[in-house]
Amino acid sequence: MSQTIAFGVDVGGSGIKGAPVDLATGELTAPRQKILTPQPATPDAVVSVIGELIAGFELAADVPIGLSFPSPIVQGAVGWMANLDQSWVGVNLADAVEAGTGRRPTVVNDADAAGYAEIAFGAAKGHPGTVAVTTLGTGIGVALITEGKLWPNAELGHLQINGRDAENWAAASAKEREGLTFEKWAKRLQRYFTEVDRLLWPDLIVVGGGISRRAHKFLPLLDLRPPIVPAALRNTAGIVGAAVLAGQSAGIATLPE
Ligand code: BGC
Repeated sequence: MSQTIAFGVDVGGSGIKGAPVDLATGELTAPRQKILTPQPATPDAVVSVIGELIAGFELAADVPIGLSFPSPIVQGAVGWMANLDQSWVGVNLADAVEAGTGRRPTVVNDADAAGYAEIAFGAAKGHPGTVAVTTLGTGIGVALITEGKLWPNAELGHLQINGRDAENWAAASAKEREGLTFEKWAKRLQRYFTEVDRLLWPDLIVVGGGISRRAHKFLPLLDLRPPIVPAALRNTAGIVGAAVLAGQSAGIATLPE
């Protein structure tokens, strides 16, 4: 059975989540476990939580591990860090996790992981043209997919809008921090997605992150040129995408064309 399963870990600004994933269906084979992100979220503290999550499941030694991480990943290392401790910058992720847990993960930016999951099993599957898969959480993540191929590390959550970093103003965390109603927050999202559309002309925008569970409260308030739909995998997309990539690196899963 371990042949068709990989374990996905999704590191976020507020929680670190993990679950085993059936690579044929994209479904979790056991309930997702979540541990609050330690503060400060230094490499040692986060790696120790990743180890705890992996240890919480009875995984065979050959089950590949995929790690979805909230930063651009350049040649395996953290290129820049917005929402975890700054001491992550320059750290090689697979080396750090292997040193702390004994298991070497396949690593991917969290929005890109969500993008892979939505291509493989969700709202971007088989969609022609360019799809922007976005995640609204502590930050804003964006994966750009054209004809099934992904452009990594797009980092469009950091577009400047009115001289300010867009995610500080329009991420789900800004809604929570400032106590914004869905109506007020939707005005910011309208600005943000209009800018994304003005620059990239996507054929479809997919919205993920935990808050996409309540997509019916804000997506109908947006008026955009391209269709905008909730992610199919909601907040498991990071786990599933990382697991699919890990399965592919291990040669036991194929990525969709
Ligand atoms: C990070 C991105 C990440 C996004 C969502 C941003 O702050 O720079 O790498 O994809 O947050 O977590």
